[in-house]
Order: sequence, then structure tokens, then C-alpha cells
Amino acid sequence: MAVKAVVLGAGEGTRMKAIIPKVIHKLAGRPMILWVLGAVARLEPVQTVVVVKPAADQVRAVLPATVTPVVQERQLGTAHALQVALDVISLDPGDQVLVVPADTPLVTSETLKRTATLHRRTGSAGTCITANMDDPTGYGRVVRDGWDRVRRIVEHTDATTREREIKEINGGIYMFDGDLIRDAVEHVGRNNAQGEYYLPDVLAILGTEGHSISAYRTDAEELSGVNTQDQLAQVAAIMRNRINETWMRSGVWMQDPSRVYIDSTVCLDAGVLLYPGVHVEGSTTIASGAEIGPDVHIRDSRIGSGAKVWYSVLREVSVGENVEIGPYASLRPGAELLDGSKAGTFVEVKNSVVGKGAKVPHLAYVGDAEIGDESNVGAGTITANYNGFEKHRTKVGRRVQVGSNTVLVAPVEVGDDAYIGAGSTITRKVSEGALGIERSPQREISGYAHRRRLRHELG
Ligand code: UD1
Ligand code: MG
Repeated sequence: MAVKAVVLGAGEGTRMKAIIPKVIHKLAGRPMILWVLGAVARLEPVQTVVVVKPAADQVRAVLPATVTPVVQERQLGTAHALQVALDVISLDPGDQVLVVPADTPLVTSETLKRTATLHRRTGSAGTCITANMDDPTGYGRVVRDGWDRVRRIVEHTDATTREREIKEINGGIYMFDGDLIRDAVEHVGRNNAQGEYYLPDVLAILGTEGHSISAYRTDAEELSGVNTQDQLAQVAAIMRNRINETWMRSGVWMQDPSRVYIDSTVCLDAGVLLYPGVHVEGSTTIASGAEIGPDVHIRDSRIGSGAKVWYSVLREVSVGENVEIGPYASLRPGAELLDGSKAGTFVEVKNSVVGKGAKVPHLAYVGDAEIGDESNVGAGTITANYNGFEKHRTKVGRRVQVGSNTVLVAPVEVGDDAYIGAGSTITRKVSEGALGIERSPQREISGYAHRRRLRHELG
């Protein structure tokens, strides 16, 4: 006896009015369909089939190698989608078929497991998952008989005014007896408002054939379906809430969790402080005591303990311990800020190492450069790394004082302990301990202001 799983992801997604397939819209950085496949995988099905539309390359691209995609040529409804999947599944006696739509990403593996247990315990031919919703608009309604047994599901569009008052909705998730499902699904007709083969009709068919039908009731949140942009945003908010609650339970502080956006792939240590407007994405890790935000966007980066990052954008960078970033810094791929360093106000760093304790406090561009330990890069300093054809590197030694408004024209090197005079355009090597200065001598014209005024007054 084994579980064989089918995930339905071939729908048109018309109501989304999106330019990408519905089921790959991301929630906490992960395509919707992968949340569903993740929950399904915990039931350890021996086979998982995903129903996709023809030419659904974008959907196929996100699917793990462990699942089998199968194409539903025409979108004739959910029952037809299951039929297409069953064509590639070999069912052995006693097998159970789990069917989950790819647009209910909040369903948990616990609920799926409990449904499987109920299904087995009651010896049912079909078990659906239901919930009571305050606003059941759009969902199929569960019609029960006088003994509270599930009779059938009626789709919103087909429901009478009375049936629409039913608050119990169908989650679209089912466990079926593998010995019966193939036959039952073939008996589904399309005599309904949408002219589609409705999968929920299978329950009524099995019931009429004298088999028992069960329903596992869960909370409404888990069964939220994503059919519109509005529902996508609501589901994303619930997902965010789940993720943030988990991090807070493990010791992460959030001033306002409703304004913190953490991808499911991120790793945070206890003692991380997150202010509002923080987006942490991809493979980012943040160490204990780091203070992030307000308003920070970090992607695929490593943030060391005690670092302080505010009002800044960081992509594919490494930030050491007690580093200070921002406000208004942009750290681009390959920026490596070693322990105790700083990239301050309006500073851009790309593909460069800023050494231990080195400071780039204001208004600077550091690209393809190495700034040695304890050096200070003055306000307005620019590494001119691009000559229109190639990029070149700048190497600044340790304990160097780069004066304000300096242009370091790469390739160029500045030795340890050197000074650069403010306003210089440095094109040649500055030796260790030397002063490099490139500036015309300052002149003084005394009495200038007085003569200037006289000229003006005399016309
Ligand atoms: C479906 C159920 C409804 C339930 C709701 C829960 C039907 C007829 N109705 O409605 O009772 O309350 O889910 O969210 O099943 N799909 C295919 N091929 C198709 C059509 C759909 O693969 O031909 C896939 C879609 O990609 C989607 C899933 O099946 O992931 C459900 O289809 P959708 O159109 O969203 O059905 P709902 O109207 O939400
Ligand atoms: Mg749906």
C-alpha cells in the first residue's frame, strides 16, 4: 500500500491576469508549486506527478527532478487533469491517490498526514479537506445530508442562493482509493456552468456507488486558494507571518513583523535585530547581534555578528563582524567588507575588499579595488576602473589616508602608510609612506574683493 501523488498545475490562471504562469508566482522567494510539493513530499509518496500545460517551460524549470511532469493538452477541468495524471501512474491494489492543486500553498504536511490517516481509518473511497470560511465566495461548497455526511460539492458558479450560504468550503485536496478512482473519474460529466470536468464530482459519484466519503476539517487559512492577485497578496502575508513567527520563536527581534520580508531560504541567528522595511532574500545568512534596517534589501549575502546595516541595498556581498553599512549604501556583487570596516553614506562598493577597520565613510565609488586594513578613503573618492573597454584594479595599502575628492585611475597602486592629497587624480603608483599629490599650486590675489566691488559700483 503506497501513496501516489498528483499535483494539478495546468490551469489557465486566467483570473490572475499575469504574464507568468500562476503556479510559479513566488511566496517568500519560493514558487507557489514548490510549497505544495514540499508538503506533499513529507508523505513520502512513491511517485509524484505534476500536471502542466503544454509549453509550460517556466513551470518545468522549477520542478525538482523527483517529480514527473505530464502535459494536459487542453484545460478541460480538474477531473480531466487527474485523468491525464492517472494515465502515467500504475496503481497497485490498496494504493492511495493524493490530489493537491498547485494553488493552495498554505496547506501543511500535518494536515495532509491527518487526512491520509482519516481516510485509512474510515476505509473511505474518497476523503476531501474542508474548512469553514467567513467569506466562501468562489469556492466549492460542501453539501452534507441530514446525518452530516458529505453528499457532494457544488461549485460557486453552479450553486443556488441557498447553497451559497454554506460556509464549509472544499479545499480542492483529496485522498482517493486507488482501486476506485480511475473508474470514478471517467464518469464525471461536464454539464455545469463552466462546461468543465469537475474533480469534486468524483466524491458524489463514489457516494452514489455506495462507497463511503469522508471530510477532514481544518482551518480556513490553510485552504486559501490563489486565483487572483488579491488572494496572492493575502496568502503571501500569511506565509510571511508564519516565517516571522518561527524566527521570533528562535530569538530574532522584529520591531514590526508585518513589515519584515524573509525568504524561506534565509538563515538567521538568535539575537538578530530587524527593523521595519527589511527584505532578506536568497541564500543570505545573518549572524547574532547584527542590526538590520530600517529599509534594507539584502540578497545572497553573509552578514557578520554585530554588523549594523541601515537604509541600504546589498547583493552577493560578505559583511564581517561589527561592520557599519549606510545609510544609503549600495554594496554590489563581490563586495567584501572585513571586520570593523565601514561603507557609509552614499557609498557604492563593487567587487572589492575593504580591509579590517578600513573606512569609506561618505560619497565614494569603490570598484575592482582592494583597500588595506585601517585605511581611510575620503569623501568623494572614485576608483576610475573602466576605460571604456576593460576594467582595471586599484590597490590601496594599509593605513593609507586618501584625501577627499580623489580619483584613483586604475590600474594603480598606493603603498602602505601613504597619503593622497585631496583633489588629486592619481594615475601612477604612490610609494609606501609617500604623499601623492596632483594639484595646481594655490594662488592668492590679495585685495581682490575690494577691487571687484569698486568695479561693480563704477559700472
Ligand atoms: C477548485 C475546486 C473548488 C475548490 C477550490 C479550492 C474544481 C472544479 N473546483 O476551484 O471546489 O473549492 O479549487 O481552491 O475543482 N487545473 C488543471 N487543469 C485544468 C483546470 C485546473 O491542472 O484543466 C489546476 C489549476 O492549475 C489549479 C487547480 O487545478 O492549480 C485548481 O483549479 P482552479 O481553476 O484554481 O479551481 P478553483 O476554481 O480554484
Ligand atoms: Mg484555485
